[in-house]
Amino acid sequence: MKTQSVSAQTPAAQRLDVEAQPIQVGLLGIGTVGSGTFKVLARNQQEIRRRAGRGIAITMVADLDTARAQALVDEAGIEGVQVVGDARAVIANPAIDIVIELIGGYGIARSLVMEAIAAGKHVVTANKALLAVHGSEIFAAANAKGVMVGFEAAVAGGIPIIKALREGLTANRIESIAGIINGTTNFILSEMRDKGLDFGVVLKQAQALGYAEADPTFDIEGVDAAHKVTIMSAIAFGTPVQFNRAYVEGITQLHGADIRYAEQLGYRIKLLGITKRRDDLGGIELRVHPTLVPAIRLIANVEGAMNAIMVHGDAVGTTLYYGKGAGAEPTASAVIADLVDITRLHTADPDHRVPHLAFQPGAQADTRILDIGEVVTSFYLRLQVADQTGVLSEITTILAEHDISIDAVLQRPGSADHAEGGKPTDLIIMTHDTVEGRMRQALARMQALPTVLAPIVNIRKEALN
Ligand code: HSE
Repeated sequence: MKTQSVSAQTPAAQRLDVEAQPIQVGLLGIGTVGSGTFKVLARNQQEIRRRAGRGIAITMVADLDTARAQALVDEAGIEGVQVVGDARAVIANPAIDIVIELIGGYGIARSLVMEAIAAGKHVVTANKALLAVHGSEIFAAANAKGVMVGFEAAVAGGIPIIKALREGLTANRIESIAGIINGTTNFILSEMRDKGLDFGVVLKQAQALGYAEADPTFDIEGVDAAHKVTIMSAIAFGTPVQFNRAYVEGITQLHGADIRYAEQLGYRIKLLGITKRRDDLGGIELRVHPTLVPAIRLIANVEGAMNAIMVHGDAVGTTLYYGKGAGAEPTASAVIADLVDITRLHTADPDHRVPHLAFQPGAQADTRILDIGEVVTSFYLRLQVADQTGVLSEITTILAEHDISIDAVLQRPGSADHAEGGKPTDLIIMTHDTVEGRMRQALARMQALPTVLAPIVNIRKEALN
């Protein structure tokens, strides 16, 4: 008898095919996440097998550094794994059903993913950059070939946000998503606030602790977060992935002074990835930038390298997902979840699987991504001004002429570090919601005033209520 039950009690147990060979997986690129995947697969193999219906075994690993790869495989204590230097040997192996791509980047990873799909392999990847930029091409190729591409690990590491958006919230019309989806920058912002340190000092600490990469550009410039929010936006709204339409601003220009003033006003500054439906313009907002968030919101209290994502759906209301967005085992948790899904579904009719981007490929909309000038937010402004009669009135007049309403004003002795003349004072203005294009015009006029002594700091604010 081929199929037998390990427990006669449940139908699920009866479906466990105890004699089936494990599904065979090839891993391209072994490092932190690859090692974590080996360890979690080994540690939880019984549970995973009971859930998937059969075993899952990584039987081939390809890495340019074969000695290091072999050492990592040995360290995980798994036997029978073939280590090779050529990734194409994995793709060419007919025994391999699933290829895990953990190389990263848009270069060789893209070629290998496309070749694996062409060879009829299912693919699991943590590569957010690749999917945000080339996702449409990759998913189209996978659909044509009838294979699955799993990418839970590409967004917010261990948080099952792709599953939540694509399946758990499938009844909803998603209205908006706002997330802390880069742990490095959240760690830096938390340290700046907690310890009153400047950006450069904390960045060095983050690198020493291994939170930030040796080249942290993608993290601190907001690019990594933009890759992730681009993928979530496509799933939420049923549109193609369009990274090139995202507005991206990182945290490198943030001053400690603004974090302190924000705190005094009851806000925290977080790097948020935001995507929103804007029915008034028939478009979608897609943006990453530092954002003032009311300190009373749960998401404002997400500290250190943790991630959190708020999703608002019309039926469910607001939901919040919190957890580790990086690291060996949290990311392995997401990779293995995809392996289990593929193991369960690879024999199913491709038309009856969950669509890669939640909506059926033929049902995607070409809703346009709005220009940043069309986005509506409120603003925090800090102007370093000469402390002279009439300065405040000049500034408020300009705002009024652009139909920008003021919510609060705070004046504090300035630090003078950017002043070029006159006795400086910091003028902090919180506005109500306005169209960004109007704010840009007002900022240009205010900046041209001789009494404005330094570049005006402007940070968007979201109520998230
Ligand atoms: N570098 C990312 C972060 C993790 O800091 O959250 C991988 O995307």
